[in-house]
Amino acid sequence: MTTPDIASSFTLPCGVKVKNRIAKAPMTEGLADPMNRATKRHETLYGKWAEGGSGILITGNVQVDRRFLERPGNVVIDNNGGLEELRAFAKAGTANGTLLFMQIGHAGRQTPRRVNPVPVAPSEIPMTLPDAAFGRPRALSAEEVKDVIRRFTHVASVAKEAGFSGVQVHGAHGYLISEFLSPLANQRTDKWGGSLENRARLLRETVRSIRAAAGPDFPISVKLNSSDFQKGGFSHDECLQVVKWLEEDSVDLLEISGGNYENPAMMIGGRGADEIRGTTIAREAYFMDYAKGIRAATKVPLMVTGGFRSREAMNAALAEGNIDVIGIGRPLCVDWDAPAKLISGEIDTAKAYEREISPSKAALGWFCLNIIRIADGKEPDRTMTGDQAITAYLENEEATASALQDRVLD
Ligand SMILES: Cc1cc2nc3c(=O)[nH]c(=O)nc-3n(C[C@H](O)[C@H](O)[C@H](O)COP(=O)(O)O)c2cc1C
Repeated sequence: MTTPDIASSFTLPCGVKVKNRIAKAPMTEGLADPMNRATKRHETLYGKWAEGGSGILITGNVQVDRRFLERPGNVVIDNNGGLEELRAFAKAGTANGTLLFMQIGHAGRQTPRRVNPVPVAPSEIPMTLPDAAFGRPRALSAEEVKDVIRRFTHVASVAKEAGFSGVQVHGAHGYLISEFLSPLANQRTDKWGGSLENRARLLRETVRSIRAAAGPDFPISVKLNSSDFQKGGFSHDECLQVVKWLEEDSVDLLEISGGNYENPAMMIGGRGADEIRGTTIAREAYFMDYAKGIRAATKVPLMVTGGFRSREAMNAALAEGNIDVIGIGRPLCVDWDAPAKLISGEIDTAKAYEREISPSKAALGWFCLNIIRIADGKEPDRTMTGDQAITAYLENEEATASALQDRVLD
């Protein structure tokens, strides 16, 4: 067998072929209309990203319930129509032989207050964050948990009908499914809490229900934390057990990340930057330390996201044989065609803009605003300052939130 590199194709367990080993990581777009439907801007953005060379594009999190958004401009699929717009989105994102996976999520207690002051969670436990951006959650009833599974399944069925190539269940980063996995956020005493088996039940039943609805040939991915990197949170040992179960549940691609809003390891890694030494892979990629153990636990194809920038580190990680796909996020908010250029050799490294944005808390807004610029057919603004990004991003979020229609707030 030849050593895989970023240009090598491969086949998912369900039989679908992927043209190369680079995947655009899921990134929230904030581009929906006031009814949370997809728009022409999704079509433009994903047309660019499809042209940009990734084998797989994973969308930003599409929400299953308009009451509990991660961000006011999320696409939602409930009873809000918008199928034609989704078809156009899917057509644009599958051009150039690209696979387009819809990431499906429920924001849980990480729903911003401006969207809903009373979010839902496994238990009535607020996040330990100093600011007041998130309300105290109420606990979901057992009936509501089952409704969440129905909603995920519905969204996956609509994604398939609209022409998306696959789906990804968002089980990471502290959103609802990740909250159920965490012993800190989930202190339920029914069958959805307590033992790991119970805490993983929402994730597993969701995946199984989607598989039953979508059939054996439809790619299903799960994004999972290698660890929450919190004392008492979802641990790496627990992750190793969950990935074994997900193999039984016929998952096609596991995307490994880490952290949540309380501890944003997905953006900086689980260890402090100062501790990261050694090989190029170790310096760049945040979660590669965990890949070997996960590979030993499961045969499901693995994608690792977080920090990858240079072709050297990407190819070395693939050659080690522990992972199958390289996830890339932030560079593609600006340099949408970096995957094609890395594969052709035109560039050696995707630019790590996050290292230059100051203050660092401006970075998320800076990247989000550049995604919006690409969606509007404009050039990304590489010279935007951190302060400009903070102001413009807040204005954008407030305007989007106040335009939302038909919100059903508790
Ligand atoms: C603007 C932005 C939006 C993001 N939105 C999502 C999202 O909707 N779903 C998700 O799983 N991760 C999301 N992430 C995290 C990325 O998928 C990825 O894990 C993270 O950016 C680390 O990868 P990178 O170092 O290549 O950027 C987002 C990241 C950024 C920068």
